[in-house]
Amino acid sequence: MTITIVGHGYVGLVTACVFADFGNKVWVIGHTEEKIDRLKKGDPIIYEPGLKELLEKNLKSDRIHFTTDYQKPAAESEIIFITVGTPPKADGEADLSAVFEVSHKIAKNLRREFTVVSCKSTVPVDTNKKIEQILLKEKPDNVEIAVASCPEFLREGTGLHDTLNPDRIVIGSNSKKAIGLLLDLHEPLNGKRVITDLASAELIKYTSNSILATKISFANLISFFCEKTGADAETVLDAVGFDHRIGRIFMDPGVGYGGSCFPKDVKALLQTGKNLGINVNFLQAVEDINEQAKINIIQKIKKFSPGKKIALWGLSFKPNTDDIRFAPSIYIIENLVKNNFIIKAYDQIASKNIERIFGKQIELVQNPYEAVKNADALVIVTEWNEFKQADLMKVKKLMKHPVIFDGRNIYEPANMKKLGFKYFSTGRKTIL
Ligand SMILES: NC(=O)c1ccc[n+]([C@@H]2O[C@H](COP(=O)([O-])OP(=O)(O)OC[C@H]3O[C@@H](n4cnc5c(N)ncnc54)[C@H](O)[C@@H]3O)[C@@H](O)[C@H]2O)c1
Repeated sequence: MTITIVGHGYVGLVTACVFADFGNKVWVIGHTEEKIDRLKKGDPIIYEPGLKELLEKNLKSDRIHFTTDYQKPAAESEIIFITVGTPPKADGEADLSAVFEVSHKIAKNLRREFTVVSCKSTVPVDTNKKIEQILLKEKPDNVEIAVASCPEFLREGTGLHDTLNPDRIVIGSNSKKAIGLLLDLHEPLNGKRVITDLASAELIKYTSNSILATKISFANLISFFCEKTGADAETVLDAVGFDHRIGRIFMDPGVGYGGSCFPKDVKALLQTGKNLGINVNFLQAVEDINEQAKINIIQKIKKFSPGKKIALWGLSFKPNTDDIRFAPSIYIIENLVKNNFIIKAYDQIASKNIERIFGKQIELVQNPYEAVKNADALVIVTEWNEFKQADLMKVKKLMKHPVIFDGRNIYEPANMKKLGFKYFSTGRKTIL
């Protein structure tokens, strides 16, 4: 098949490389010449494990092509995927301007007898109908189109693995022909097929992310109870998670969820609910607890840090990605800087992105041990494996005061006691 992917971010480029690797001809459309030139040379721009190698392989075999011009890709492709960003507006509603902008461009350049336009971007209910209206109004008369919602479920950091091993492939469309073509394209992949209408497909994605965010907020809520009562959050959540109806996954107390999906998708569902006149207090609580989780660690640092020199480990919103969108690290750094803390931070790949926000306000260093030199306290924000395996005796020797605020519960309190640290974690007894 010949297909087009509009957008080359975490979703677009991963999807493009995987489908190219299956033997399809894949066009990728961007809107910045400079980025398209980098992609043509094999630079994926974003970091995703294994992506650079897969991109280089498919460039070599001439299956993947990058352009800013819609003409050839739209005229050749049986399926065109929209994977552009849908960031939150100030009120939390999803900003769909990029989705509609590219829909206009696609419409004008359609030439095939029949083309499927499929939105992979996460969009509120009714958006695909609006895309359809644009396409029907602006396409040439002699071509047919059908829209399909194909929400994406990959996780940053394991994007290639998730795309190659999906739990489910959701296709929402009113067109049997479109569903057939999309099923053919996804043929090499396992995973349950869910064929449904447009609105259900759109809502499935928001439901998934909101439930995952709810599990994280629930774990944080319970950790607040534990901190007030002396109970141990990890033991409580382990025991609860052994119940297979609940499960332990995504119930990790800490500094809250971040990233480009959960915060914006919970906010967008909240807004959709309000617009529809639905009581969304439940979703509001999920958001509020997430804010409280970030405030919680800042309060502990302000109260218990023996000095103002802070080492900060982990800047990306989760391990194995360079993505810092809505990362708790940003909120924590902003607050600490405002309160005159001096920060030396380390992250193995997200430092450059953080530098763009904070410039010289914080010092970024090349390894975790450099960060802790002479520090009054260490704050752990992202649970990279590198930190789990750190030489803690070396850390202790380098620090001015052996104090750790662990926002991800990556160490065992008993071990920290043995090593002689003051150890503040989340929902567990403090080691003094
Ligand atoms: N990142 C994830 O883990 C993930 C997972 C599932 C779904 N999603 C959803 O997929 C969508 C894309 O997410 P992402 O993380 O890949 O975003 P991203 O920011 O990494 O990439 C967005 C891409 O869209 C391009 N773009 C933006 N405006 C454009 C325009 N007007 N014309 C052409 N290209 C334009 C950007 O250049 C970029 O390549 C979002 O709706 C997101 O919610 C993301």
